[in-house]
Amino acid sequence: MSPQPSLVLAFVAAMAFVCNAHVGISPSTGQPGQSINGSFHVPHGCNGSATTGLSVSVPSEIVVLTPLPVSNWTLDVKYTKLDTPVQVNGVSVNQTVSSFSWTGGYVPADGLEEFGLTFTLPQVDLTNTPNVTIYFPIVQTCVVGSTEWTGIPGTASYNASTGSPAASFVIANSVDSTTADTHDHDHATSPTPSSSSGTSTSGASGFLTASLSGVTLFAAVSALFI
Ligand SMILES: *[C@@H]1O[C@H](CO)[C@@H](O)[C@H](O)[C@H]1NC(C)=O
Ligand SMILES: *[C@@H]1O[C@H](CO)[C@@H](O)[C@H](O)[C@H]1NC(C)=O
Ligand SMILES: *[C@@H]1O[C@H](CO)[C@@H](O)[C@H](O)[C@H]1NC(C)=O
Ligand SMILES: *[C@@H]1O[C@H](CO)[C@@H](O)[C@H](O)[C@H]1NC(C)=O
Ligand SMILES: *[C@@H]1O[C@H](CO)[C@@H](O)[C@H](O)[C@H]1NC(C)=O
Ligand SMILES: *[C@@H]1O[C@H](CO)[C@@H](O)[C@H](O)[C@H]1NC(C)=O
Repeated sequence: MSPQPSLVLAFVAAMAFVCNAHVGISPSTGQPGQSINGSFHVPHGCNGSATTGLSVSVPSEIVVLTPLPVSNWTLDVKYTKLDTPVQVNGVSVNQTVSSFSWTGGYVPADGLEEFGLTFTLPQVDLTNTPNVTIYFPIVQTCVVGSTEWTGIPGTASYNASTGSPAASFVIANSVDSTTADTHDHDHATSPTPSSSSGTSTSGASGFLTASLSGVTLFAAVSALFI
């Protein structure tokens, strides 16, 4: 077997992986009422330009959330007063974070930065549905241009082939063990690929073992864009 087809195939797989990469949150699943230590990860710059800002809208379902400082970035937090305080896990809450941003930093287009936060998941009603997905719309600002990760998959205005999806988080009583993440803190610093990326990765692994150059290329490209 000539290494050439494997190399080409690996490159195609790597490109598919890159194109599937989108802004995400780790962990991306949890149970109703659970406290989450998480982080956002930006996949790459805007069309090759370095990232200089990340602005996040908090889903209305979440009333307890704290974005964490990131070294060399300026954290700005906006609050909304609640007309009626709500009880969250026995604590009275009278204001919520509505949006926040990290600005003034610099992540090279091929670099990686984790933006941490803690939040408490809402007590969603899972009586008639296996899970509920909440979305964090995010605007990624770059030296040149910006990317609006604000699309909500499944809605009429969202085009799956051209849209930029918001970071999504699934709330369920029981989740697939490969995505469940209640205690694994390492997850926050080594984000898992999205499920679609994961499919490309595992689908590629079979033939990649046949070609060392393919593995190297794939690993190198993957490392750049996770
Ligand atoms: C989140 O991190 C804090 C401090 O590191 C720790 O005390 C807490 O138990 C963590 N919570 C979860 C749900 O992992
Ligand atoms: C991305 O960058 C390339 C090369 O600089 C340019 O040709 C292309 O128009 C850009 N695409 C967008 C969407 O800005
Ligand atoms: C913060 O910025 C300084 C000065 O540019 C740089 O030396 C340092 O490595 C940066 N730290 C991080 C964590 O990026
Ligand atoms: C909100 O709660 C904090 C402490 O729980 C309290 O100090 C503050 O006065 C409250 N604000 C309003 C507008 O009720
Ligand atoms: C989504 O975008 C692609 C590429 O521009 C286009 O060909 C396709 O018709 C669009 N689909 C819908 C449902 O608008
Ligand atoms: C959420 O529920 C759907 C069915 O409505 C299921 O296909 C999907 O696997 C569930 N996701 C998780 C993370 O449990």
